[in-house]
Formats: sequence, C-alpha cells, structure tokens
Amino acid sequence: KTKVKNICCIGAGYVGGPTMAVIAQKNPDIKVTVVDINAERIAAWNHNDLDQLPIYEPGLDDVVLEARNRNLFFSTDVDAAIDAADMIFISVNTPTKTYGKGKGMAADLKYIELCARQIAKVAKTDKIVVEKSTLPVRTAQTIKSILQNTGNGVKFQILSNPEFLAEGTAVQDLMAPDRVLIGGEQTELGMKAIAALVDVYSSWVPIENILTTNLWSSELSKLTANAFLAQRVSSINALSELCEVTGADVDEVANAIGKDSRIGPKFLKSSVGFGGSCFQKDILNLVYIAKSYGLNEVADYWEQVIIMNDYQKHRFAAKIIQTLYNTISGKKIAFLGWAFKKDTNDTRESAAIYVADQLIEEQANIVVYDPKVTAQQMQSDLNYLNTRSETENETFLTTIVDPYETCKDAHAIAVLTEWDEFKAYDWQRIYEAMQKPAFVFDGRGVLDHEQLRTIGFQVYAIGK
Ligand code: NAI
Repeated sequence: KTKVKNICCIGAGYVGGPTMAVIAQKNPDIKVTVVDINAERIAAWNHNDLDQLPIYEPGLDDVVLEARNRNLFFSTDVDAAIDAADMIFISVNTPTKTYGKGKGMAADLKYIELCARQIAKVAKTDKIVVEKSTLPVRTAQTIKSILQNTGNGVKFQILSNPEFLAEGTAVQDLMAPDRVLIGGEQTELGMKAIAALVDVYSSWVPIENILTTNLWSSELSKLTANAFLAQRVSSINALSELCEVTGADVDEVANAIGKDSRIGPKFLKSSVGFGGSCFQKDILNLVYIAKSYGLNEVADYWEQVIIMNDYQKHRFAAKIIQTLYNTISGKKIAFLGWAFKKDTNDTRESAAIYVADQLIEEQANIVVYDPKVTAQQMQSDLNYLNTRSETENETFLTTIVDPYETCKDAHAIAVLTEWDEFKAYDWQRIYEAMQKPAFVFDGRGVLDHEQLRTIGFQVYAIGK
C-alpha cells in the first residue's frame, strides 16, 4: 500500500487553498505545499494577519492558523514542490475560452497543460497526479499522454478528484462532505493510486462517503452536479416570472414542491440569477462537449439553463428601469452587495456586475456597498465586460464602505447579495435619508418586505 507523505498542490485559489488547508489540518503527518505563480497571492496566504488571507471563508483562518508552518506551506517555488511530492494536485483555473475554437464555450485547458508539462519536466520519481480542477470529461487522457511521453522513465498515475465545496461554506463542506469522489484507472496500479488518496481523506471522512469510480465517470460527475444545481435555480427563476403575473408567490410554490421528497427543499430560492466562477463555465463546457459528439438536443437542453439565467439578470435590471419611470439617468441607485453570494469575497460572474452594467448604460449612478469586496475589484469586474471606457466606469460606479452613506439620497436600493447583515439594518433610518418615493428591489428575497412597506418603501421582490 502506498502511503502518501508529501503532497504538492498547484494553484492556491478558492479551491486549492481551503482544500489543502483542511487536508493538512487532518493529516499532520503529511507535508502539504501549495504553490502558485502568483507571488502576491502566496504572500497573502503567508501573511501573519489572518484577515489578509487572499480568500475569505468563514472558519478558514482557524484551520490555516493551526496547520500553517507545521505541515502546511505556501510557496512560489513550483519546481521544488513538484520534485519533493509523491502526490500532486492540479487545482488551477479552467476558465471559458476567450479565443479560437470553442471561444465562449469550451474550457481553456492551457493552464492544466502547462502544469502537466512542468510536472513532466521536473519529476524524477513516480507520482500520483490528481485532477482537482473541474475538467472536461476525458482530460485525464491528455494529461496522461503528456506525462507518459517524457522518456525519463518516471511513472505517473492520474486520478480525478473533483471538488464539490461551495464558496461561503467551503470549510464546513470540506470538514463534512456529502461525498468525496475519486476516479482512477481500473488497473492494479490505478487501484493502488485510488487507495492512496482514499487513505488521505479517510483521516476524517467516513469511508462510506468516499466513492471510487472510473476516471470518466468522476470527471463527468462534476460537470453534471453543477449542471443539475444550476438547473434548479433556473427552473425556479423561470417560474418566478409566472408567479409575478399570476398572483402566485414563488416562495410558497417552492415550499410546497420542496416538501416532495423526490424534489427536496434545497436550491429552490428564486433570485436575480446565479453567479460564481463555476456554474456557467461548467454548463457551457458540457454543452460544448455534447455538441462535439453531435448531441445537439442534449446541448440545447442544458444551454437553456444559461439562457434563463441571463434573462433573469436582464429582467431584474429592466424592472428597476421601468419602475423608476423609465428614466434613471443621473439617479442614484444603491447596491447592497457585489459578491456572487454571501460569505465570500468572490465576485466572478456575479449578477451585480451585469445588472450594474445595464443600469449604467442608462446613465444611472451606481453606489455599491459590500462587506467583503474592494472597490478595485468592482471596477475590474465592470471593466472586464468592455462595455465602455474605464474612466466612464469609474464615474458611474462608486463604492462606499458604509451602508447608510451608500443608501443616502438614493432613488432606489437594489439587493444583489444575500449578506445577513442587510436584514439587521435600521431601515427606518435608511428610508428617511432617501429620495421619495423610496424603492427597494430585493434581488435575493432576504428583506422583510412587510416591514419595509409599513415604513413607506415601494418594494419589488422577485416572484411575488
Ligand atoms: P482560482 O483562479 O481562484 O485559482 C487558481 C490558481 O491557480 C490561481 O491562483 C493561479 O495563479 C494558479 N495557477 C494557474 N496556473 C498555474 C501554474 N501553471 N502554476 C502555478 N499556479 C498556477 O481558481 P479556483 O476557483 O480555485 O478554481 C480552480 C479549479 O477548481 C477550477 O477548475 C474550478 O472550476 C474548480 N472548482 C472551483 C470551485 C469554486 O468554488 N471556486 C468549486 C469546485 C471546483
């Protein structure tokens, strides 16, 4: 039986950082080194002040504090970490391609391939290479082909071990995962590699929650899981508009159907739309793969999940414009929240970005408050869309670090993230400082609408 002693993880991002911190915490006898080419990020992971960690996740600071410099290390020396490791996780980003064939759809695997080539170049001893990044089904084939043709006699086993953590609850999810999935070659050596990784997880995950499969099932399960999750959001969002025109209440409908044990209550909250770095990217990837096999009906079916999500964001912005008498030029619209969900500083694909962009097209002044997102990040998110010049974006979108100041003199407030603290605000005070009529557009269904109406607000809530 192979016992892993030294782990290297390439990529110190939202997945690599928290995942390795927990693996190290739970396996004090394994040395875990997380490496990244981004020196700034590595410095932040090594920062003495735990508030400066590059990723905000509840509980992450305690895990890092316990394991860091004991058996958890963050470094920019990628080659040294690869050389020393007997197991290497690849946890780099796999964004949607922005160029060439498959542009806007396929996953860009250049970072993955660079990792494989670097491993091939540096390795002098046998290694188990673990795909932690979310990858198109059959990527292990590519990685294997790169690793096996180096001619230096080193033997590699490739495993697929997709990560199912959700941002905002990453530490909790890692501590008690619904399941851990490990795919590998169904050969003697493949099984040995699988067993070595099962061993790492079984330090804290009950063995019955560790599933082992062949490589392709594991790779495809991750894309499928994200497609199903996103599909539920788009399904309830599609119904939210029907609720609005028929007098049904989307929360009541969600509650009623969620009681059906075949459906279940989770992930039935309608909203301004899902965001995050994964759902859209992974579904587009699934659509692309299906198309590449000529499965057009399969592709169209899943693509509709994205179309619905885009529509929901668009519809929310349009509702704001229409409600504010079809003219928002020069009006102040306060955004509560910019992150794609609560308890994270991640803003990738956040609905807020698209709603802001659409409102700025109408020359509204957007003022944003988010407890964890920096002004610089918001600007860069908006600039990334390339709709207008950076100077214009700076003029139309500003950030204030105090929620009351953010809402002061606003014509409307739009809630874009479900941060808990929004519920606890003094809404009477906010109301008094606003332009009248004072509008609230609750894109996350988190506020007490009855209370707001009693104060005097005009409230729009999705699906009501
Ligand atoms: P991220 O962008 O936060 O982190 C990736 C890191 O890899 C970056 O810091 C980058 O500098 C580094 N990197 C890229 N190429 C490198 C190289 N050649 N050598 C060393 N470092 C390199 O990405 P994130 O969010 O951690 O995602 C990583 C993967 O995990 C993606 O495939 C994603 O789909 C998947 N995933 C993400 C989840 C999430 O909630 N963010 C959840 C589950 C899976």
